[in-house]
Formats: sequence, structure tokens, C-alpha cells
Amino acid sequence: MTSRKRGMRRGLTAYGDEEFSLFLRKAFIKAMGYSDDALERPIVGITNTYSGFNACHRTVPELIEAVKRGVMLAGGLPVEFPTITLHESFAYPTSMYLRNLMAMDAEEMIRAQPVDACVLIGGCDKTVPALLMGAASANVPAIMLVTGPMLTGDHRGERLGACTDCRRFWARFRAGDIGAGEINAVNAKLAPSAGTCMVMGTASTMALCTEALGMMLPGGACTPAVMSERMRHAEASGARAVALAKERLTPDKIMTPEAFENALRVLLAIGGSTNAIVHLAAMAGRLGIAIDLDAFDRMGRDTPVLVDLKPTGQHYMEDLEKAGGLVTILRELTSLLKLDALTVTGKTLGENIVAALPAWKQGVVRPFNSPVFKEGGIAFLRGNLAPGGAIIKQSAMDPKLMRHEGRAVVFESLEDLAERIDDPALDVSADDILVLKSAGPKGAPGMPEAGYIPIPKKLAQKGVKDMVRISDARMSGTAFGAIVLHVTPESAVGGPLALVRTGDRIRLDVPARTLELLVAAAELEARRRQWKPPRPRREDARGYRKLFLDTVTQADRGCDFDFLAAPATMRIPR
Ligand code: FES
Repeated sequence: MTSRKRGMRRGLTAYGDEEFSLFLRKAFIKAMGYSDDALERPIVGITNTYSGFNACHRTVPELIEAVKRGVMLAGGLPVEFPTITLHESFAYPTSMYLRNLMAMDAEEMIRAQPVDACVLIGGCDKTVPALLMGAASANVPAIMLVTGPMLTGDHRGERLGACTDCRRFWARFRAGDIGAGEINAVNAKLAPSAGTCMVMGTASTMALCTEALGMMLPGGACTPAVMSERMRHAEASGARAVALAKERLTPDKIMTPEAFENALRVLLAIGGSTNAIVHLAAMAGRLGIAIDLDAFDRMGRDTPVLVDLKPTGQHYMEDLEKAGGLVTILRELTSLLKLDALTVTGKTLGENIVAALPAWKQGVVRPFNSPVFKEGGIAFLRGNLAPGGAIIKQSAMDPKLMRHEGRAVVFESLEDLAERIDDPALDVSADDILVLKSAGPKGAPGMPEAGYIPIPKKLAQKGVKDMVRISDARMSGTAFGAIVLHVTPESAVGGPLALVRTGDRIRLDVPARTLELLVAAAELEARRRQWKPPRPRREDARGYRKLFLDTVTQADRGCDFDFLAAPATMRIPR
């Protein structure tokens, strides 16, 4: 609900005397040194997501200064406030487990404090969806500002980027190709500047999808974190936030079904992270919009991958920036986009495209008729192994495995995987299918990025680079391989994945969009009768863990908490 009151008069503490509440509030805020004139201005809140643990947000303090400058130049009063921040490597057990907590924090703080508009500063994977989920539910005018991607590193003349090249070099180390000295040298070059992972991982994907969604000023997705242009973009975002406050341009007017369709098109065309489909489902769910994954898959049949970025291609985000950024992609997709969707500029997506600089010759975004991959990056699968669906990043796998039948080699949990995957006695061959259970939203919990099951060491050493792998986990957007993810329902709630045994045959057919467990229905029924849910862990009974386990939804609904989504009244794509 959006308050009609403005500035200091918004959301007064309830003492039964509004004028006294305002008097008291002003008395306290004056301790910050503000004048009455300043306190009469539109107030723009700025989420401070800086943390010493969040390297992707290292530049947040200087971005805040730039946003403040923009707000003041436009006649507003900027006030920063902290929210939870999440970095992928510093959020045990997994950042996904904490995304909803950050979304709740953002929502309640935006609502609790007297902000007429809010600049949401995010960047690292979960922060952008969390802030947008919160802002959508609070429905206060908001604009997203991302920290921007890192510049690339260099090792012996080879460009490096987090974290596709982290995985590539680690795989070479596991296979014995390179030694400890070299892997240590590479470790120091993978994240050479401030900013987010500079391949088409989740951070880059969410930045591009957010710009396509209309919640970010044009050009904001790709500019590297350390460029001066990033500061000017931050200043412009602050200034625009003042206008959003005056226009009362709330997220529900921008995050419409049409806008989400544009974001989904872009997700497919950039060969984006599989995580984005979970985040977009959660964000849309906050506005009562359900994503129909079968229809999303049909959308993928006529949306080619156009962007030649790692892990699907060869370039990095700074190259996409030099190629013009998102608008270069949007121009190629024009015939498929909902150009009338409103954006935070106050203009439509179509008007923003027309207002951009004309295109120039570049080699990062392919023409629509000469794509990197002829279909969208993500394919949606169904079958008796995944009645609620599963996904695969078809643009980033060995094409030979698109149609594959093999013997299942099952790992019951992440612990089991860690214990046995490199055991020289493990009975496994390159044609087998690796299956991981108990890594879904409730099972792990938090649906970690464990779907990138490592190739067993003894096979890696023989040169095996890809195998079909199946789990109810997620995968980092920076990873690649014939990896089936988000199997729904997950094994911990009794999905068919829980019934798979080593030796079973499984058939994956990506062109037909099927995933089948080749076990007779009667046998599966017998196994189901024997199946027991995982024993509750001691820490499951209290606090945030309990709330999470009791209310988290499956991947197809974005893994949001069931009580946070709005009742679904719309379905996309239509
Ligand atoms: Fe933050 Fe990759 S770890 S974006």
C-alpha cells in the first residue's frame, strides 16, 4: 500500500497524536543536523548493502555519494539506510537460503521509514532479486542501481573472469593438467577489480533482466564497476528517484506482465543464468503474476541466443558494454518485445530504444538471423522424473548429450557426493548419469549451487569434460555442462527423484523436452511405499530455519515464502 502522505509525514509512529509523532520524529532527525528546509524535501532512501564480506559491493560507498549528489541536485533529501547484504561465498549455508530474509528486510525497512522513493543498490547475485521483491511488495517508487561487473584478469596472456574460468582452471587442476603453483597464481587473477562476476553469471543476468524489466535507467546493466560512467549513472539514478517520488511511479506500474515478458525474452537471448528463472518467478509472484514455464519454453523456441559471452561464448561484460550494452540486444529482439511497457524513465521500453545512440559495428551481440544458438539458452523439461518440471542450459552443454540415455549413479546427499565422487573405487563411466538428491529448497536447505556435480576425478583425468548430471539443486550462472537442474518436486518432499537408485536407466531428450526415469510404474510405487522423508535436523525446529522449511515454495514458484507472494491473478507469457 502506498501512503498518500509525503516525506517526514509518512508512516508516523502510532502514539494516537499524529502531530506529536511528527514533532518527536523531527526532534530526533534534527540530531543528524538537517534543517527544516531539508526535511520538507522529497525523501529518497538509499539501501546501503556494503559489507566487508561483500567484495562485489566494494564500491557501494562511492555509489551512495553519487546517488546523494543526484538526489540533492534534483531537490530531494537523500537518506541511506542499511539492509542485509549477501555475497555468494559468504552466506552459509547458501545465499539462496537468505535471499528471502533480505527481501523481507528490504520490504519492511522501505515501508517502516519515511521514504518517498528508494534507490536500491545491489549487485551480487541474490541482492538484486531480493531488493526488487521487497520493493515490489512495499510498492514504493524504486529504481535499481547495480554495482556493475568487474574488469577481466589476465594469466600468462589469457583473459580470465570469475567465475567461469575459476571452474575451468579448477577442473584442469583436478585433472592434473596444472599444479599447485599455477592454480594459486590463477586464484589471484580471477577477481581483479571491484564489481560483480564479469561473465554471464547470475549477477550479469539479473542486471540485464532488470534493465529490460524497466526498473533501471537505460545503460545501467553493463558499465563496469570501476568506470566513471558508473558514477554518472548512479547520480542520474538519484535524480530520477526524486522525479519518481513526485510522479508516484510505483513498481506495480512498471513490473507488469508485459515487462516480465521482456525480461524473460532477454534472459533467453543472453544465454542467461538458470537462477534468473527462479528469481523472476519470485519477483513476479510478489505482484500476483505466475510464470507459465511451458509457455516460457515455447518462447525459447523462437528466441535465439544472441550474446557471445562466457560461459556460452567467448566475451565478457566489459565487451558487451563496449558493444552498446542491453539496447544492442533489445534492437535485435524488437519484433518480440512488448515495447509499450513503462519503465522508470517514465517512458516506454520502445521509446528508450529509440532514444539510445544509433548502433555501431560490433562482434558481441549477433544479428537475430545469425545467432550463437538458434533457440533460447534455457529449455524446460518435463517427464516422470520431474512432473513439476526441470531446466537445462542447452546453450552451454556438449551438444552430443542433447539426447542421452544412461545408467544412474546416485548420490543421496551433498555429504555422500563429497565422500564418494573422487573415490577410485566408484563404479562410474563417462556414459553414466550422475544423480544428486537432497539439494533442493528444503532438502539442503536453500537449494545450493551444487548442480554442477564435478566429473569424477578418475574420468576427468581421462579427459572427460561433460556428463549428464541431474539434481534438485541450482547451478551458478557461470557454470556449464549437460546439467539438469531444479527437478520439481524435490527429493526431500518425496518427488520421484527420491526414488532413483543406482543402476536405473534415465533418458534425457532436450529437443523433445523430456526427462524420463525408465523404471516401471509398479516398481516406482513399491519404492514410494518404502520411502521415508529425511529425518529433521536439530536446527530445523527454530528461528529463520523453521520459517524457511515451513514456507519455502518449490523452484517453479521462485522459492519464495508462500505467505509473501500475492495471490496469482495473471499468467505469463500469454
Ligand atoms: Fe558476487 Fe559473483 S560472487 S557476483
